[in-house]
Amino acid sequence: MQFSKHLRSVEKSQTLLLNEQSRTLEKGGKKIYKFGFGQSPFLPPQAVIDALKANAHRKEYSPVQGILELREAVAEFYRKTDGIDAKAENILIAPGSKILIYAVLAAFTHADLLVCAPAWVSYVPQARLLGHGVITIPTTFEERWRLTPQALAKALESRADKTIPSVLILNYPGNPDGLGYREEELAALADIARQYGTLVISDEIYGQLHHAGQHVSLAKYYPEGTVITSGLSKWCGAGGWRLGTAVIPEALGQEFKDTLLGIASETYSCAALPVQLAACEAFRYTKETQEYVAQQRRVLAALGEECAARLQKSNIQVHKPEGGFYLFLDFSPVTEVLAGFGLNTSQAVCESLLAETGVALLPGTAFGMQPEQLSARLAYVDFDGVAVLEAAYKSKAAEALPDGFLSGTCAHPLEGINALCDWVARKESLAPSPEHFAAAVG
Ligand SMILES: Cc1ncc(COP(=O)(O)O)c(C=O)c1O
Repeated sequence: MQFSKHLRSVEKSQTLLLNEQSRTLEKGGKKIYKFGFGQSPFLPPQAVIDALKANAHRKEYSPVQGILELREAVAEFYRKTDGIDAKAENILIAPGSKILIYAVLAAFTHADLLVCAPAWVSYVPQARLLGHGVITIPTTFEERWRLTPQALAKALESRADKTIPSVLILNYPGNPDGLGYREEELAALADIARQYGTLVISDEIYGQLHHAGQHVSLAKYYPEGTVITSGLSKWCGAGGWRLGTAVIPEALGQEFKDTLLGIASETYSCAALPVQLAACEAFRYTKETQEYVAQQRRVLAALGEECAARLQKSNIQVHKPEGGFYLFLDFSPVTEVLAGFGLNTSQAVCESLLAETGVALLPGTAFGMQPEQLSARLAYVDFDGVAVLEAAYKSKAAEALPDGFLSGTCAHPLEGINALCDWVARKESLAPSPEHFAAAVG
């Protein structure tokens, strides 16, 4: 049977495709620096793993919204870590935050989604699947890839039909850029969102991995219109367990919540019960768990800073990261050099880089950038998280990691960064001179 004419156009996520390509090359014996895939390298805390083991026999379905014990733990976690007045009845648990973002978008029969470029890969495909309008707001390296209040207001003003609800997705610390917002920036964005009645999905899944432990939720400034999504995938190293959380503003009312619960009950039913019970332990956020997160931050901050510093010495534009584990690389200073080798798109740059050096990046197009804007995301998590965290714990007496820590424990990713810098330098040294171009044109 052939249904091709009737199928939706949904590409397989570019993240997964690149991972497959890297695996094929690796199988062929090539050394690969897997900077393409943003998976936490760390194991969940032992107490959380033990809780999962102890509850493996719990095979029942749970309530659609999630078990009360977990919702209470999540609400308390938000009160404690973010100073947000969260209540268990406004928490929604699901198999991953991705499906929660989708459920919030699916709650609307029609909406306009506002999203930055670059932004995480799945927001726009999700909105398109639902038939929503999409307004992409371009950002620049100079603006630190951040949304400005002016750009937000302009995008909201540009909407053809202002009677349709508008939904903004904000994500920070950011994937793909590792950057955050200052409090005054959040306050200014909140003012605009309030002025236009825009619902904000604040994707704060990397919040606990703010490198200085200073994440501030948008909900602090816009409690009535902010849905916070997060989960266990990043700070707790448990992406494959599939556990996401959403804090739904009280002000959205019972009807909105019931709509979300209706979508949940007709699609995924509930998050796996053993995982919810393990998540209770994680969200209790004991001293040990806080220490575990603090050690991750130390490693990610030091490695992120070192990677950015090395890249900044070459002709690649990149900001020092503030949270999470990504860097967004902007190759614009070497656009002409790369064009001299026929590398005119970020996809071509990433393919050539992978084939020539084994460095796997994700092209900026996966994040909504234009193909000719030479950019790529680098996830600096290709290291043995268990060994690195063990070493970090051992050195915890001092605040800073000891000299030689990174070269000892993260030699592989640092070698990959050097390979990337060398590749750019080699291209520059081999590039035809401007006089050559002039002569060729003349
Ligand atoms: C920015 C961002 N949001 C959401 C998700 C989805 O996470 P989850 O595993 O909770 O579905 C990811 C995962 O990579 C992400 O990077």
